[in-house]
Amino acid sequence: MTLEPYDTLDCDVLVIGAGGAGMRAAIAAAEAGCSVAVVTKSLLGKAHTVMAEGGIAAGLANVDARDSWEVHFADTMLGGQLLNNWRMVELYAHEVIDRVYELERWGGLFDRTDDGRIMQRAFGAHSWKRLCHVGDRTGLELIRTLQDKLVHTPRAEVHMEYALTSLIKSGDRVCGAMGYRRSDGRFVAFRCGAVVLASGGWGRMYRETSNSWEGTGDGAAMAYEAGAELLDMEFVQFHPTGMVWPPGARGILVTEAVRGEGGLLYNAEGKRFMLEYDPVKKELSSRDVVARSIYEEVKAGRGTPHGGAYLDVRHLGAEQVRKKLPSMVEQFHALASVDITREPMEVGPTIHYTMGGVRVEAETGAATVPGLYAGGEVAGGLHGANRLGGNSLGDILVFGKRTGEAAAEYARTRGTKRHIDERLVAAEQAALLRPLDGSDDGASAGENPYKLHEELQAAMQDDAGIGRSEESLQRALAAILELRERSMRMHVGGGRPLNPGWHTCRDVTNMLTISESIVRSAIERRESRGSQWRFDHLEQDAELGTVNMVTRRDGATMRVERVPIDPLPDRLRPLLQRSRFYDAAKLPKGYLTAAAARAGAAS
Ligand code: FUM
Repeated sequence: MTLEPYDTLDCDVLVIGAGGAGMRAAIAAAEAGCSVAVVTKSLLGKAHTVMAEGGIAAGLANVDARDSWEVHFADTMLGGQLLNNWRMVELYAHEVIDRVYELERWGGLFDRTDDGRIMQRAFGAHSWKRLCHVGDRTGLELIRTLQDKLVHTPRAEVHMEYALTSLIKSGDRVCGAMGYRRSDGRFVAFRCGAVVLASGGWGRMYRETSNSWEGTGDGAAMAYEAGAELLDMEFVQFHPTGMVWPPGARGILVTEAVRGEGGLLYNAEGKRFMLEYDPVKKELSSRDVVARSIYEEVKAGRGTPHGGAYLDVRHLGAEQVRKKLPSMVEQFHALASVDITREPMEVGPTIHYTMGGVRVEAETGAATVPGLYAGGEVAGGLHGANRLGGNSLGDILVFGKRTGEAAAEYARTRGTKRHIDERLVAAEQAALLRPLDGSDDGASAGENPYKLHEELQAAMQDDAGIGRSEESLQRALAAILELRERSMRMHVGGGRPLNPGWHTCRDVTNMLTISESIVRSAIERRESRGSQWRFDHLEQDAELGTVNMVTRRDGATMRVERVPIDPLPDRLRPLLQRSRFYDAAKLPKGYLTAAAARAGAAS
């Protein structure tokens, strides 16, 4: 195999992804004394983090004294239907409080209470007002603050517009990554002591999504190829409120802060339907419930003209709307010519977030392959079957820091031998160059990557979307396997510098891997729980409530297996009752089975 020329860059810790988790990890690793390379295929400051607009959930109790880390723990576990990694949730609920104040010390400007403390707002399925926010631009403020901190942190260097396509291993240990520079197509290899994946989620294999072009699951796909395990991939979050009109804006996020500030949902008949679907939490029910309710209303013929529901804030008054939701005012005005202070918005579910991800150890974010760490959306475990809004910005702060520190420690102690096997580099180069081989006329030969992407989106949206069944999932799986086969023959014209068609080839390959894992896991979970809604298994299954789904690579074959959950320990179990929404009669199925099994084992 020919080895093409490539540049080698050395660092102690390589961070892949430059959203909130990546930047926080890089700051932590550099502060621990390591040299750090932060690599993004996009631009610094351009990350899905900005789409978490409504706030950071943290039990500061500034607005409601009944709040605490314990209540936050309980809400998060119940929201995740108890499939969460409880230790991650415990660390998270504790530490997010410090991370918010740290962000404030680093320059983050939050909205304020009258007595000058960080303001907090209501959000779905959080017991009390908990979301620390900056109007409806919290993610942007978080990114701006971390960006400012990062560029002033010694030993951290940012590399923009680099596409990393493969992790490099030495024996069973990850010691680098390779790919190419998008500007000139030149190959690069980073040689390092440890890798932190902070590459975010994967909405782009769906047609309607709040994710921009970066969300193709590269990090999770690379981790899987390198032998890491993926967890609970069936759980894909439909945010209840995305724009549905005009077509070019379909899927763009309408922040939950709209409902947090008092926005109400109506169907086309003017009925406030959430009073029926969830009389307690109403519009502020968990995202899985609100998304399904809108879907049901549309299916029953009570949808708006463009297939959604009405979201109305007129009763709040124009001044309050402009003050607390300035981005929404601008967004609807610019994209839909709608003045939301005078007209209702039309909204419907949009793919926003992925609860599943790389399986990690709670304290450190270590993946199941040595030398590899994962933090933020690319990691699984924290959110269980459904994430509560506001828990992603906290996640990236808490686990960004933890993974950065742990990777730094690993790089210094066990990651000192840093060898790149050039046979692996040559093999990856050959795979990357395959779509550019042959004629320069992209139209005449092979498969068009854009067309494959479109077909994948159709299969995932229609057959592995908000509602699924064995039949639809098998259809999706067959489509994915056929697309995988065709993807071997992708071809694009042009050369390596700035060639979006060429980039899309790798994106499609990654999205096919991730889609297969989503679908196989969804088939194996024969129940409805959290974001997984099976039309053919509408109830929860007690047995399945005690397991996570784990995807593993077995040669060229993908396998999904059930792995028992470590049940809640005695010291944490009573905390569940601290949630305002705790109802013993409605505990997620499986909880009691797990408790009984443990009692049996103990006796
Ligand atoms: O609706 C939102 O503002 C999104 C927040 C989140 O995903 O955490």
